[in-house]
Amino acid sequence: MKHFPLSALLLILPLPALAEGDAAAGAGVFQNRCSDCHAEKGDTVKIGPPLTRLFGRVSGTWAGYDYSDAMKSANITWGADTLAQYLPNPRAMVPNTKMNFNGLKRPGELEDIIAYLAKATAE
Ligand code: HEC
Repeated sequence: MKHFPLSALLLILPLPALAEGDAAAGAGVFQNRCSDCHAEKGDTVKIGPPLTRLFGRVSGTWAGYDYSDAMKSANITWGADTLAQYLPNPRAMVPNTKMNFNGLKRPGELEDIIAYLAKATAE
């Protein structure tokens, strides 16, 4: 297999569960759809809890934020997969959450915001 072409190698790599998003586009989505209610870094509580260090955080655990009982008992570990499930329709995943948001519906928005959040909330 001396001359095994690189393109053939790429074809056999497993596809990621979620397409790679565009973090720069995701920044705009965050600004328009989330930033009224959430800071992505720091410890400012808005209508919702800060999303600082979100990846790996267990739902309902930002100290000093008054969560709904639904979010307190949801027991979700936030990451790309759980956000991909939550953000298109928060109330489907966490019935009775007080996050008053219909969900991200436009194609691409979800991947983009997850790419943005992975970067921005880690800082
Ligand atoms: C109208 C205000 C509002 C908007 C807009 C909003 N959220 Fe929320 N969000 C909340 C509230 C309030 C909670 C707490 C929910 C609860 O306690 O049930 C929350 C909770 C969350 C949580 C769980 C946090 C934790 O600590 O467990 C995540 C993740 C989240 N929001 C992400 C987002 C993202 C990403 C967007 C934009 C796409 C967004 N939210 C838009 C108000 C909002």
